[in-house]
Amino acid sequence: MEERKKEGRYKRVLQQLESLVAKSNDPIARMATICALLHHKMDHYFWTGFYLLKEDRLVVGPYQGPVACQELAPGKGVCWAAVKREAPVVVEDVHAFPGHIACDARSRSEITLPVRDQGGRIRAVMDVDSAIPGAFSQVDSQYLEQVVQLVFQ
Ligand code: SME
Repeated sequence: MEERKKEGRYKRVLQQLESLVAKSNDPIARMATICALLHHKMDHYFWTGFYLLKEDRLVVGPYQGPVACQELAPGKGVCWAAVKREAPVVVEDVHAFPGHIACDARSRSEITLPVRDQGGRIRAVMDVDSAIPGAFSQVDSQYLEQVVQLVFQ
């Protein structure tokens, strides 16, 4: 998607999400709402979801898109990289990322972001896959960082 068009869309989705999440303070309900809205508004998204951090496990939470891995091998892949780095990870080519976990062979690029609670503790990872190589940029990272803050706010 063209970067300016993408930015406009993120701005509108973010506004819509702010009013939607105000209807429930349940983090799972909020994650489900975030996935449903973003997945259907962003043309470059192929899989949109959350993995919940349960001690040393990442277990799938709400998502939209093809059936995904239910648990991710400890410490491996792009989702765990976001937990370990405590920062978003943008992968232009998933085949070039060591340890990448392929839940669906059609995924070509990916972005993952830590989701923190109000105390700053990482409780989940937001993960978006695209079937297009290099689909995610600074724009995605900048707006999704605002989106993940809505989960526990
Ligand atoms: N690719 C991820 C696994 C989750 S799926 O993309 C839905 C990873 O390497 O952690």
